[in-house]
Amino acid sequence: MELLYEGKAKKVYSTDTENVLRIEYKNDATAFNGVKKDNIEGKGILNNLFSSFFFEMLAGKGIKSHFIKKISQTEQLVQSVTIIPLEVIVRNVAAGTLAKRIGKEEGYLMRRPIIELCYKNDALGDPMLNDDHIEVLDIATQFELQEIKAKALEINEVLIAYFKNFNIDLIDFKLEFGKTADGKILLADEISPDTCRLWDATTKQKFDKDVFRRDIAPLRETYQALADKLGIS
Ligand SMILES: Nc1ncnc2c1ncn2[C@@H]1O[C@H](COP(=O)(O)OP(=O)(O)O)[C@@H](O)[C@H]1O
Ligand SMILES: [Mg+2]
Repeated sequence: MELLYEGKAKKVYSTDTENVLRIEYKNDATAFNGVKKDNIEGKGILNNLFSSFFFEMLAGKGIKSHFIKKISQTEQLVQSVTIIPLEVIVRNVAAGTLAKRIGKEEGYLMRRPIIELCYKNDALGDPMLNDDHIEVLDIATQFELQEIKAKALEINEVLIAYFKNFNIDLIDFKLEFGKTADGKILLADEISPDTCRLWDATTKQKFDKDVFRRDIAPLRETYQALADKLGIS
């Protein structure tokens, strides 16, 4: 089937079913908008495993996503959507760019979760947008934006509670939403340690892509250790 799009982490193919796509998780790891790159054997398998697991778990809590089913170690079928070009970032604890921007130490616990919205545009370096920019650029209406934010916060609550069972803190994560042919907003893309920050609540050990970004530990072993901790296989 036709390759529709190749991104940094996944390839998107058409299928012979209308509105159904096949997503293949690649072994490529990138950071800093593609400046740092590597190819890590087994990464695609692990992220397909995590993403399938989290989408299924969310479905069990009544939160729908594009996920249909996992069809091989590295592939899943998803509902096709028109991606809303926003990186919807939910943050519980300051880390990464937020810690820098507000002048706090990484690990600064915020009073409540906050949402950051970035324009999904590699050429522009994914700049942060406010609600006005998003409305005026016709990226989403105010109404759609409220729905997206509410869903993101709901997903945050489910994921925080889930990780708490394993003594892991959900520091932050990035979501993408899309629009179905009939105009509904649906959670899409992926949920994996590539798109979340996950720290051991006691030791603060990182179980996410920061180990790759910052050369802290090997990525595959770190993701495998997370899968083992969560009992996902
Ligand atoms: N259900 C979907 N329908 C259409 N496109 C999707 C869907 N889910 C994810 N995508 C898109 O697939 C592309 C490939 O993913 P990825 O490799 O992570 O790309 P990127 O390099 O843009 O982060 C992205 O543009 C993402 O927005
Ligand atoms: Mg991506």
